[in-house]
Amino acid sequence: MNKACAAITSFLVMDILERAHALEAQGRRVIHLEIGEPDFAPPPPVSEAAARAIRDGETHYTHSLGLPELRAAICADYLEKYGVTVCPDQIVVTSGTSPAMLLAFSVLLGQGDAACLTDPHYACYPNFLRLLGAIPRTIPTREENGFHFTPELLAARLVQDGVRASAVVVNSPSNPAGALMDEADFAAVCRLGPVVISDEIYHGLVYRGRARSALEFTDNCFVLNGFSKLYAMTGWRLGYVIAPPRYVAALQRLQQNLFICAGSVAQWAGLAALTEPSVKDYVAAMVATYDERRTYLVAQLRKLGLGTRAEPTGAFYVLANVKHLGRDSLSLAYDILDKACLGVTPGIDFGQGAEGYLRFSYANSLENIEEGMERLKKYLENFSKE
Ligand SMILES: Cc1ncc(COP(=O)(O)O)c(C=O)c1O
Repeated sequence: MNKACAAITSFLVMDILERAHALEAQGRRVIHLEIGEPDFAPPPPVSEAAARAIRDGETHYTHSLGLPELRAAICADYLEKYGVTVCPDQIVVTSGTSPAMLLAFSVLLGQGDAACLTDPHYACYPNFLRLLGAIPRTIPTREENGFHFTPELLAARLVQDGVRASAVVVNSPSNPAGALMDEADFAAVCRLGPVVISDEIYHGLVYRGRARSALEFTDNCFVLNGFSKLYAMTGWRLGYVIAPPRYVAALQRLQQNLFICAGSVAQWAGLAALTEPSVKDYVAAMVATYDERRTYLVAQLRKLGLGTRAEPTGAFYVLANVKHLGRDSLSLAYDILDKACLGVTPGIDFGQGAEGYLRFSYANSLENIEEGMERLKKYLENFSKE
């Protein structure tokens, strides 16, 4: 086997989810607080646009960069939200944010190149890098500082063993900590030199403060974004990368060879998500609901003695400290699943810096979160008796 492939680790949350499905197949009812997948249906105009596209025969390959209408709508969205002007020719529409990540990492990073990322970080970043022979250089962030990433932390790790990092990955709001980067810190990170890869997939899911786009601070950046989270479109597989113009031809060649284009039906649906006026209200209602769940979940976890020193203010995750239980996060997550039928994600999925933590997703109904907390309470009572 290709050595780089052999080094790829499991996306642990998927392993947990699959075990949860096996329990469900045995007739047990599992509460899912592990998976970062909105429980909402997509806004109705999205599904209507998809049905229309199928009916109208919009089912062929599209332009490899994506439908011109969709790319124009993405530009309009970035102009409206961040006041930045990007050209449709800088955008490659992809089948989810994950392929956008693969394309961006591939054109930027090769054998031996280092990319800085926070620890904790989104589980898949290091694996994408390892596949390319690049080196993930992790930068520890701390719970007491809300897992915030700062220019000082980056500056201290920019050069290591004489190798200067080629890129820095920023994810604000972040998975798994729900941390929103301070505006001045984000601007300073963008000034430090290496090209910024800004994963903006949780933009819009912000409950306090405002998410900034890297494009507000620098042109030397790749923006990754997608429709999975904000528009509850995980299964539709639609995302995009906005790249500096000089990289677009290379990105396009990769897209043509690896994927040809993103799915046509999903692209028409994505266009509706960005342009149908009623979608804004639908999204605002989802965000208000997430916020309600967030407030409840953080309070309950604290009551149960699971530390969340800094309040998460974005995405739909709480990273809770369980170090006092004295057990590694992976075996703890499986034990909670097996004994309490509650799915949670082990911190170790997100790097060494999240060992001793569990991630709880509040992309589930308040009712289910309440039930999940009840189960966790009972589990912890028995845990202390063991
Ligand atoms: C930070 C981050 N980036 C990217 C992705 C991948 O999203 P997509 O479904 O668009 O491939 C996820 C999914 O959980 C994520 O958390």
